[in-house]
Amino acid sequence: SAIDLIVLDEVDSTNAEIVRRRPELGGGRIPVCVADCQTAGRGRRGRVWQSPRGQNLYLSLGLIFRGSFAMLDGLSLVLGVAVAEALEEQGVPDVGLKWPNDIFIGGSKLSGILVELQGELEEGIIQVVAGIGLNVHMKDGAGVDQSWSSLAGALPERRWCRNELAAAIIRSVLRAVNEFTGQGFGGFRTRWQSRDIFSGKPLTATHGELAGTGLGIDDSGNYLLSDGEEVVSIRAGEISLRVQ
Ligand code: BTN
Repeated sequence: SAIDLIVLDEVDSTNAEIVRRRPELGGGRIPVCVADCQTAGRGRRGRVWQSPRGQNLYLSLGLIFRGSFAMLDGLSLVLGVAVAEALEEQGVPDVGLKWPNDIFIGGSKLSGILVELQGELEEGIIQVVAGIGLNVHMKDGAGVDQSWSSLAGALPERRWCRNELAAAIIRSVLRAVNEFTGQGFGGFRTRWQSRDIFSGKPLTATHGELAGTGLGIDDSGNYLLSDGEEVVSIRAGEISLRVQ
């Protein structure tokens, strides 16, 4: 698939830029935006994504799907797998996934993915913005509210090129999205599961009302917890999980 690449020095948010540019780009090409820094980078759950200049990757793609909104939970896990596989192709070892789609390395967060629904283009055709933030040379985590890592910090013996990483991620995401569109979530379940950082761990849900051992995901990407008697499934987007 052909892309329209938009490269910016500075932007509020590459996700917001894709929303703004979408109407001018036609012809079935996929708009992709990368920026050297963001002044209002957004994270999941209304959080801020710290986006200092010249250090990391901030990348968004405008995708179109035929189907229902229910597919989107699966899509967000598919994107996690795609980013993890791209990093592995680039030689990054032990890439982990934290449900639904955070990318972890060495026990802390390396990359986050924000899937935003843009609306229905026409009946049955939905537009989605997929934004990926990847810490490459992140130096100062001031303002980051969780334990974070970067490629340069985790693997200091390597030189990291943001352009190469962007190309690898874009290729991997487009490949994965094509597969997801054609064949659904099925082929991603084991690829997701093999990188699950929660598997076998004692977990609690954010509100504390659920606790159990992590069992991985079902065929739609819901997370499964076992409390010893029952298996409970948790939908992406509803609650978040953490190790007890
Ligand atoms: C998360 O909370 O884990 C998701 C973070 C997503 C950050 C990326 S950076 C590129 C794109 N533009 C944004 O404003 N957010 C996403």
